[in-house]
Amino acid sequence: MQTSWIPFIPESASTYAPQVDALYFYLSGVTVFFTLLISIVLIFFVIKYRRRSLYEIPRPIAGSHKLETLWSVVPFIIAMSMFAWGAQIYFHQYRTPKNADEIYVVAKQWMWKIQHSTGQREINELHVPVGRKIKLIMTSEDTIHDFFVPAFRMKADVLPGRYTTQWFEATKPGTYHLFCAEYCGMNHSGMIGSVIVMQPTDFDNWLSGNASQQAPAVAGQQLYESLGCVSCHGAKGEGGRGPSLAGLFGRRVFLTNSQTVTADEGYIRESIENPQAKLVSGFGPIMPTFQGQVSPEQLIQMMAFIKSLQVTGPQPATSAAPSPQAGAQTLPTPR
Ligand code: CUA
Repeated sequence: MQTSWIPFIPESASTYAPQVDALYFYLSGVTVFFTLLISIVLIFFVIKYRRRSLYEIPRPIAGSHKLETLWSVVPFIIAMSMFAWGAQIYFHQYRTPKNADEIYVVAKQWMWKIQHSTGQREINELHVPVGRKIKLIMTSEDTIHDFFVPAFRMKADVLPGRYTTQWFEATKPGTYHLFCAEYCGMNHSGMIGSVIVMQPTDFDNWLSGNASQQAPAVAGQQLYESLGCVSCHGAKGEGGRGPSLAGLFGRRVFLTNSQTVTADEGYIRESIENPQAKLVSGFGPIMPTFQGQVSPEQLIQMMAFIKSLQVTGPQPATSAAPSPQAGAQTLPTPR
């Protein structure tokens, strides 16, 4: 749907912007239709059934089951259609496609720090290619912020100590507003930036233009070695005194309390900062905490490194195969 001709509607530049707009028009349409209908009928009845003489006594009304049913069932169907349509768009937005490119976002008072998986960093700017699926993994260093790109119809809270993921696919090259949409202190209104959508070839040039920076996975590997993780989890994450990390990301993990969890960003962070919280089945509480020793950005680097670890050699029956498709079939990740 082309919506740029309507005032007050931001430009539409992502695959789900038209879907969100269509739902919005439906909601507005239903609202306007019933507002008009009720107003007109109200005025009509006020005139038609006005009191014509001082002594007029109206005919008593006994009620109608047919009418009662009609005006219960029709609004129910309309409300459920809104729910079903909204839920469908919500699921589409909140389930990240497997093949999305990952970009890390760290918010702090009052800026957006962005790092691409190749190591390229930027502040208050996000360069993305058109027509490719992008997954943002976002966290905050201090208070709650909110990543809002009106042209993409995308908005998500960015929280300290948690990882929010959002995905989008830009459909049109250009520069779009990025706002912080959560009041986060004195310079909240200045916490703005731009999303620059480029042609894929331009983007690849831009990305390789500053290749001197270290990729997060490489920085994560150095941390893994310098913090001594390597002595229990193995040089390639193959495990030993600690559980194996190879192929861990996205897999189901069995815990000592006989529960299972999915190894997502939140789980990995918790296991680094508070290792005793979710002990992997078969392992004792021997890992020290690294709380306060790794910054939010370093945590992201560790995650990038852990994600890069692939399963090699014979695989245990409970682990996912390295291919994302096979992994999705055997052990689905609820997301
Ligand atoms: Cu960050 Cu408002």
